[in-house]
Amino acid sequence: MLIYGAAGYTGKIIAERAKELGLDFEIAGRGEDSIIEVAHELSVPYHIFTVDDENAWKKALSDKHVLINAAGPFTNTAKSAIEACLKAKVHYLDISAEMETYQLAESLDDRAKEANIQLISGAGLFVSYDALAVHLSQLVDEPQKLSMGFQHYGGFSKGSVLSSKNIADLGILVRRNDEIQKDKDAQPKTFSFGKEDIECIPTPLGGIILSYKSTDIPNIEEYFSLKLPALSQSELDPNNLPDGPTKEERAAGRNAISGEIVGKDGKIVRAMIDAPSGYTLTPISAVAVANRILNNDFKTGFQSPGSAYGSGILNDLPDTYVINL
Ligand SMILES: NC(=O)c1ccc[n+]([C@@H]2O[C@H](COP(=O)([O-])OP(=O)(O)OC[C@H]3O[C@@H](n4cnc5c(N)ncnc54)[C@H](OP(=O)(O)O)[C@@H]3O)[C@@H](O)[C@H]2O)c1
Repeated sequence: MLIYGAAGYTGKIIAERAKELGLDFEIAGRGEDSIIEVAHELSVPYHIFTVDDENAWKKALSDKHVLINAAGPFTNTAKSAIEACLKAKVHYLDISAEMETYQLAESLDDRAKEANIQLISGAGLFVSYDALAVHLSQLVDEPQKLSMGFQHYGGFSKGSVLSSKNIADLGILVRRNDEIQKDKDAQPKTFSFGKEDIECIPTPLGGIILSYKSTDIPNIEEYFSLKLPALSQSELDPNNLPDGPTKEERAAGRNAISGEIVGKDGKIVRAMIDAPSGYTLTPISAVAVANRILNNDFKTGFQSPGSAYGSGILNDLPDTYVINL
């Protein structure tokens, strides 16, 4: 396995998780000093190259089975990294929350099948999110509408703040009758997160592509417990942003994802996921998917976490639970 962007805030936690599981991997990224520091800390081989360096990709991927791309914003990195994986016939996953890269992966379905590789953009937080969507879709007949609410805990990393602009700029997107549409009149919706009910803000989180791929549910709406950070800050100066929450801050709270599904007969079922906070859950999830691939468990072509692994992937995520509401 190769982890690109391994010196970033989340990339480093991904590399630490891979080490903890005893996986055989190397790391890469564009920042010489920071990559060497992580490589020494974890005692793993490293490569230093910019994302557009085709020869360096060829060399770094020559003996690899899977790439985790952790270098975001992914609109700047996914295209080159996926192209390198298609050429090297190496499975690709990233932790993007940016719709544009999901659509890019979707558009490369045929090429990924030809290369016999699995292509998942969004194998971070969306692993459990999508697993919940699949779980709910199995609880009603002919599911018609899925509403998902995401309760975030633990602040945001610098990379997430920057990337969230790519989500905020899209406006409110929903899926209606199988098509992605803008919803100018979207209203807040209250979700139960077990201990509390929270009014969440309409926010396209990627389920309109990923969970649609996993479940074929024709109507999907998504909500977030907070304003996206890009909408909360007038100036996104990367120099003034924190790297991300500390280990202690990450451990002090939990994430929750709440979903509601409506069947053709009008039956409504609700369930939620209770999970570690985001920057702990994302590395656990990305490495769980990579580990499945390393064990030859994959489907070729464009996939979502749910289309590849269903809700069963939750068994690979420690301290993560589905609760039927
Ligand atoms: N939805 C999820 O599951 C989830 C969860 C967590 C994070 N994320 C996403 O993951 C991404 C990384 O987050 P983070 O917290 O790790 O941010 P970060 O600390 O800013 O790290 C980003 C890393 O990517 C590298 N990078 C950025 N642009 C690059 C480019 N054009 N070419 C090569 N390398 C590049 C950076 O290198 P330099 O240091 O050289 O700039 C850095 O190593 C963000 O897009 C964030 O939204 C998603």
